[in-house]
Amino acid sequence: MSFDQLAKFRRSCRQFDTSIQVSDELINKIVEAGLHAPTAKNNQGVHFVVVKDKYVKSVLAKVNSQIAEYKFDMFYGAPIVIIVMAKKGPYAVYDGSCAIENMLLSATDLGLGSCWIHRAKEEIMVPEIKQILEKYNINTSDYEGVGNVILGYPAKDRKVPEKKILPNRVTVIE
Ligand SMILES: Cc1cc2nc3c(=O)[nH]c(=O)nc-3n(C[C@H](O)[C@H](O)[C@H](O)COP(=O)(O)O)c2cc1C
Repeated sequence: MSFDQLAKFRRSCRQFDTSIQVSDELINKIVEAGLHAPTAKNNQGVHFVVVKDKYVKSVLAKVNSQIAEYKFDMFYGAPIVIIVMAKKGPYAVYDGSCAIENMLLSATDLGLGSCWIHRAKEEIMVPEIKQILEKYNINTSDYEGVGNVILGYPAKDRKVPEKKILPNRVTVIE
């Protein structure tokens, strides 16, 4: 798929076929796409936490729902969640966002479904999550949570709603 097609083909996926495991090879490729994203002054302060563990995923989902004040699974049962956080500073959100978009496009290119899930900023400051990440030597006080990327194979009967591009969003000054 050309980049032009890829950018248009990428859509948020919220229905997964959990009977197919996502290989480490694909996860690594997606993380690599994030690692190669641009960062301000090439600071490369973006950190990626790949969560495969069912228990940790369930804690994350619970915490995310509590923050959102919704009762459903905010990760839609996705087999993989990647928390994207960036070293605190003026560029954290911009840097993390570039990485996330690279990952969403990479996932699409590899035939996986993906979606950006919000509330990572609050999520990584919740003591339960902080403690889990500290075990992996991540001091979340040094980071700003930017987003969670959920990944998995899209469900075969997944519905992709039509996307209308709103008009008048481009100005050309000649
Ligand atoms: C900053 C940001 C936060 C988002 N947070 C969520 C979220 O918490 N849950 C969700 O289901 N989708 C979330 N999305 C996905 C958007 O809802 C989705 O991109 C939008 O509806 C357009 O659909 P598309 O991705 O299929 O083009 C988020 C997207 C962005 C860019």
